[in-house]
Amino acid sequence: MKALSLATTKLKPSSTVAVSARAMELKRAGVDIISMSVGEPDFDTPEHIKEAAREALKLGKTKYTPSLGMPELREAICAKFKRENNLEYAINQIQVTSGGKQALYNACFALINPGDEVIIPAPFWVTYPEQVQMFGGVPVFVDTKAEDGYQLDLSALEAAITPRSTMIILNSPSNPSGVVYSDQTIEGIMELAEKHDLWVMSDEMYEHITYTGGLPVSAAKFNPERVITINGASKAYSMTGWRIGFAAAPAHVIKAMDAIQGQTTSSANSIAQWASIAALNDSYSYIEQARAAFLERRNAIVAGLNSVGCPTPTPDGAFYVLADTSRIHSDENEAARIILEQAKVAVVPGTDFRAFGKVRLSYACSLEQIAEAVRRIGAVGA
Ligand SMILES: Cc1ncc(COP(=O)(O)O)c(C=O)c1O
Repeated sequence: MKALSLATTKLKPSSTVAVSARAMELKRAGVDIISMSVGEPDFDTPEHIKEAAREALKLGKTKYTPSLGMPELREAICAKFKRENNLEYAINQIQVTSGGKQALYNACFALINPGDEVIIPAPFWVTYPEQVQMFGGVPVFVDTKAEDGYQLDLSALEAAITPRSTMIILNSPSNPSGVVYSDQTIEGIMELAEKHDLWVMSDEMYEHITYTGGLPVSAAKFNPERVITINGASKAYSMTGWRIGFAAAPAHVIKAMDAIQGQTTSSANSIAQWASIAALNDSYSYIEQARAAFLERRNAIVAGLNSVGCPTPTPDGAFYVLADTSRIHSDENEAARIILEQAKVAVVPGTDFRAFGKVRLSYACSLEQIAEAVRRIGAVGA
């Protein structure tokens, strides 16, 4: 029998899979598990978005769309960039994809050659190094520290740049650390990109979930010619299952990404594209409500975990915290296993995020669940 492809055998399955599988097994056995491992808002998709989907179905909008995405949606995305990020894009600089993950994949496919180095600040979202490696790229990690609130040190970033560097991947607000880079940091990164002729892939998926007041500056603001901005409907409008993401980039990059998409998925789902127009054009009341709820939950989980001997910095964005679980076990995988088995709380070990000694908890759940999870974690080993 022929073996599986080399590319497949190198690919790591998602680190949440093992925890989720065990948590599911326990749930099926009737155990009351609090799930803090998921990466999605717990709110339902807002009604006006669902209504737009129902309307699109009624009108029979069920056929292939242009592979770049429906022009009506790309126009709504251009308007979003103008309104929220003060960026001018034409619709040939926008690609609609099946989730933000596919936008990242298309961009990596379009821009990475074998041997190219891609700089990724750590802790990072696990998909980045995997996608870089799919195209023969070499991930180069720049570590950041909990005691600095996971802020990126520009001199450490510059020290990681070599003649083989081709791209920096930014994710602010970050999954898993929740760090939001300051405008000055983003500007400094863009200066380095200019100096060393690098692409910047800026994953801004969590831009609306920030607690510092206003949206963080978009990297493209400093030089749109070097930046591929990744964003989407999943986290901002509680639409993870609809699978709509998008990329904004120079037209020649989008053209290459279009060729890739045209030969893989053809286009994103037509009904979800219509729903996303409604999301983008009328989003503020929902976003404000969600942000206020996440802020209250963040405050509760950070205070709670710190009070039970799991030091946890206060993140400025997204809906995750990284908690130091060395009180429970020095190895984060063991700590996550103990927390699941004894506290019946599902968390993700930091190993694959390069957050050693930490576990990631998602606070996209109720305040009651947060309080109960903290109580149970506090009781472990007490
Ligand atoms: C940082 C980050 N970027 C991108 C994505 C992908 O989003 P989507 O579900 O739209 O593919 C996620 C999802 O967890 C994420 O955490």
